[in-house]
Amino acid sequence: MGRSSKDKRDIYYRLAKEEGWRARSAFKLLQLDEQFSLFAGVRRAVDLCAAPGSWSQVLSRKLRGKEPKDTEEKKEEPKIVAVDLQAMAPLPGVTQIQGDITKTSTAQEIIKHFEGQPADIVVCDGAPDVTGLHDVDEYIQAQLLLAALNITTHVLKPGGTFVAKIFRGKDVTLLYSQLKIFFSEVTCAKPRSSRNSSIEAFAVCQNYCPPSGYIPNMSNPLLDHCYDVDFNQLEGPNRIIVPFLACGDLSAYDSDRTYPLQLDPSKEYKYTPPTQPPIRPPYEQACHLRKNNLLATEDSPCRPLDGAFSNLHLSANEDSEMTSEVDAASLSAEAAHQDTVV
Ligand SMILES: C[S@@+](CC[C@H](N)C(=O)[O-])C[C@H]1O[C@@H](n2cnc3c(N)ncnc32)[C@H](O)[C@@H]1O
Repeated sequence: MGRSSKDKRDIYYRLAKEEGWRARSAFKLLQLDEQFSLFAGVRRAVDLCAAPGSWSQVLSRKLRGKEPKDTEEKKEEPKIVAVDLQAMAPLPGVTQIQGDITKTSTAQEIIKHFEGQPADIVVCDGAPDVTGLHDVDEYIQAQLLLAALNITTHVLKPGGTFVAKIFRGKDVTLLYSQLKIFFSEVTCAKPRSSRNSSIEAFAVCQNYCPPSGYIPNMSNPLLDHCYDVDFNQLEGPNRIIVPFLACGDLSAYDSDRTYPLQLDPSKEYKYTPPTQPPIRPPYEQACHLRKNNLLATEDSPCRPLDGAFSNLHLSANEDSEMTSEVDAASLSAEAAHQDTVV
């Protein structure tokens, strides 16, 4: 389980490369769309925490189609904005903002790009850098979701949709309560491509209807101050329970199973290179140390690059797992960048 999973490069990892997606996460959004028809009538979409860009690819393909457009048609095309702390290789029809989703300036940039019009949908597959301490990681992930919700309240139209990665940890009921304040329908959805062994799921929040008089404010920590209340102990109508839905075509591949490389007996398996490796991944330096045999070993715990190195020991391990698509039961690896196809 977790870090020692046998099948690190699972079926969706391979399919992502074969179909040209930058990360296997693309299938999660595609399967959520199968269930909820997320993109019907969407003209303006925001992808928060977008790098390396597989969700933006899905938005681009679903909203704009594959064919290049002439100039007149281009003016009428749906608008897509992708935001991430990290740089991302360009994508057709996607405007990129390299920025922090917790900043008001980022919300303003999004609105500027939409020429003052609100977005129809905001999606967020955000994951913070992880510590490996599950309680802390769960808390930070919840905070990132709240940051995504916060920026969403600035840019989403009434009636709009918000989709965000959520960890079904012990305080998830608190998150549901917060989401229910802003959306009339909240569902916890688990696509087939998200491993069962992972606590990852997606909150699909439909029909944005903020409380009357609510003024979006980035410094508003939403219900953070209530973390001490044990929401899980609430009962009856006091407790917010949201439906849980396993979604996507149930005949789709199971991300927890191992499949042979040659899926179609009539076609020989051929290796496909990654579509778009991350431009400057945070684990770049760790890769360099490992390739050049500069990582500490039991025999030589100290290396010339000691200062940087002491911090990088964990990163190096994370990296080896990220590049190999580790099992999602490890919260930290899942939350980091493991879905990236590299
Ligand atoms: C799992 S990756 C997203 C993968 C992406 N959905 C895809 O399909 O390619 C999580 C991303 O969250 C970004 N992130 C984390 N905190 C952020 C923040 N405060 N503002 C913007 N991006 C953030 C990270 O830089 C990372 O690229």
